Amino acid sequence: MNHELITFDQEQKVFHLHNDKISYLLAIEDGGTLSHLYFGKRVKNYHGQLRYPRRDRGFSGNLPGSLDRTFSRDSILKEYSTAGEMDYHTPAAIVRHPDGANALFLTYQSYRIEDGKPDLKGLPHAWVKNKNEAQTLIIRLEDKKSQLDFDLYYTIYRDRPVVTRSVQVLNNGQETVFLEKAASMQIDFADRNFEVITLPGAHANERHVEREKIGQGIHVYSSIRGTSSHQMNPFLALVDPETTENNGDAYGFSLVYSGNHKFEVERDQFNQIHLNIGINDFNFKWQLAPKAEFQTPEVLMVYSAHGLNQMSQTFHRLIHDRIMRSKFKDQLRPIVVNNWEATYFDFDEDKLRPIVDKAKDLGIEMFVLDDGWFGHRDDDNSSLGDWYVDHKKFPKGLGHFADYVHHQGLKFGLWFEPEMISYDSDLYRQHPDYLMHVPGRKPSPSRNQYLLDLGRKEVRDNIYEQMIKILDGGKIDYIKWDMNRHLSDIYEADLPADRQGEAYHRYVLSYYDLLDRLVTRYPNILFEGCSGGGGRFDAGQAYYTPQIWASDNSDAIARLVIQYGTSLVYPQSMMTSHVSVSPNEQNGRITPFDTRGAVAMWGDLGYELDLTKLSAADSRKVAKQVSKYKKIRQITQYGKFYRLKSPMTGNQCAWMTVSPDQSEAVVTVVDIMAYAQPYCTKTKLMGLDPSKRYEDVATQEIFGGDELMNLGFYDPFANGDFQAKMYHFKAVD
Ligand code: DGJ
Repeated sequence: MNHELITFDQEQKVFHLHNDKISYLLAIEDGGTLSHLYFGKRVKNYHGQLRYPRRDRGFSGNLPGSLDRTFSRDSILKEYSTAGEMDYHTPAAIVRHPDGANALFLTYQSYRIEDGKPDLKGLPHAWVKNKNEAQTLIIRLEDKKSQLDFDLYYTIYRDRPVVTRSVQVLNNGQETVFLEKAASMQIDFADRNFEVITLPGAHANERHVEREKIGQGIHVYSSIRGTSSHQMNPFLALVDPETTENNGDAYGFSLVYSGNHKFEVERDQFNQIHLNIGINDFNFKWQLAPKAEFQTPEVLMVYSAHGLNQMSQTFHRLIHDRIMRSKFKDQLRPIVVNNWEATYFDFDEDKLRPIVDKAKDLGIEMFVLDDGWFGHRDDDNSSLGDWYVDHKKFPKGLGHFADYVHHQGLKFGLWFEPEMISYDSDLYRQHPDYLMHVPGRKPSPSRNQYLLDLGRKEVRDNIYEQMIKILDGGKIDYIKWDMNRHLSDIYEADLPADRQGEAYHRYVLSYYDLLDRLVTRYPNILFEGCSGGGGRFDAGQAYYTPQIWASDNSDAIARLVIQYGTSLVYPQSMMTSHVSVSPNEQNGRITPFDTRGAVAMWGDLGYELDLTKLSAADSRKVAKQVSKYKKIRQITQYGKFYRLKSPMTGNQCAWMTVSPDQSEAVVTVVDIMAYAQPYCTKTKLMGLDPSKRYEDVATQEIFGGDELMNLGFYDPFANGDFQAKMYHFKAVD
């Protein structure tokens, strides 16, 4: 039975998207202006009280041809601002016409409502299982003079506090124009004293939570690196100053896109907040010939009335249930040993076999062969683009080694970096033009490697053909898809001069195309994303790879901050996390083995070290961790996730996951520094059933769910820095 999720009030000219949890209201105002009214907790009816107040505002002009000085497109809350009209906010869209003008005056033309949610062609997006799950409102805004139409897409899910947004631009005119900016969405708020939360960082230091006030002016959070980047994740939240993990309003926005992005937050002269999200307009210029269309990426908008934890839980479910497609998204993720930090480039089959043997003894389930198995890659200066085995390292071929791994009862994973080319490669020697470069200029190396001109189908096909030669053998169970530099020297050789502004976005579309062809051809291969760790950790990537290597920083204490930030948006099962050696190879920190295990068990557990070099005591610890993880991973990977204590603000980090039926919970508390006179700290749990009794599996002590959540328990005093404690509770009633 299909209940309406979207209604249109003819009289008031108001659209209302609603489900049990949320309402989103927008209206057609004077001069066909599409204005924003409300996004938040569900309201049943709307009686017109949010019609934007009329007032003559100095220096905010009025509608063309109108004598009404009380209505201005510069002050009213809008759904989509454009350059060239009387609106001085940072525009959502800019179009360059053949006469050189950028005038664009969008007015309401029509609407339609569809059951379900249409796919976004060539781009990752949230999907629906059936048409009853969601409804989509499509509002057409038109620029009468140029006959450019902007279709604004709004999808509301029946059972989630989520609205998705995207825009399709159609040239129904006679002339070719250039899109210079096309945001996926805009939303405006009046009278909100919002703060902004973002996830900035660096390579090996990704996704730190930052929260700041919004002063008057435009504040930009963006990437122009060609990927979603380590430096600024494509996510932003607007929260009230009093919003905490568990209380207050939180509005989360996640862009489903892995390329250049731009989040613009503006506090205007009337203390209104204006937010645009979309592809970055830096070096962006898209030709739109008559009848051509441009599809923006999609934004996931989440509303939570109960703070950041609830916002994150909504994102986790949405990304897991309706962005990820791989069959592995619901399967227990395998425990991996990866040879990167164990051997780097210095390996051959003889050296790897003992690691496989030891992995088998310890209960590990997959061996991943990382960088260096192909071409003649003994360091990072060569061979990218030559995807055939190095017979010096594997004299009997890769298949022979894969058979060995399988024979030992492990799955076999393989590393690729398909978007790259080295000067020292057969691919470059045969096709120097495949290397992305600006004609007549020397391209800049990064890690001594270069980008492929992926926008060219011929280039993609070459890499695809090379990869399927290896994968068709059927011996590969997992692929780690890496990307170890950002884009520069942007140029697509296939495009004419006046279309080079398309190269960045075409790169991303081409990357998605190549990846999509592979994940479609090999549904039984588990794909992991990676870009020097978490440089492409975004919702778009999750559409293709259900898990991503979260960071090249494997130090457990640095990982607390990284994983805490990551958890704001992305589900635990999406985040791979490995135990590595101590002192840590990235920052030299010495941490206990148990702590490294506890922190890595936050996500998909693996080992990134030479198992053959472990002491007998540490080997026993690995075996213990592996067997423990097998018992809890259903809950830690797929349970409801709660952040309890932030490593950004205190000396502890704590988090927990609860099974859907509330019968089991896993809790981890990490004390960062140790003190001689430590304060007494308590951990209070969340998400349990207050009426159930729970047993601490380690001690067999019994507690009420209400006790664990309201009283909590004292944490043991830490003896030494970086101590972790894990608890596993099971309901006994
Ligand atoms: C960067 C990745 O994040 C590492 O795990 C490793 O695969 C190296 N690249 C290999 O070059």
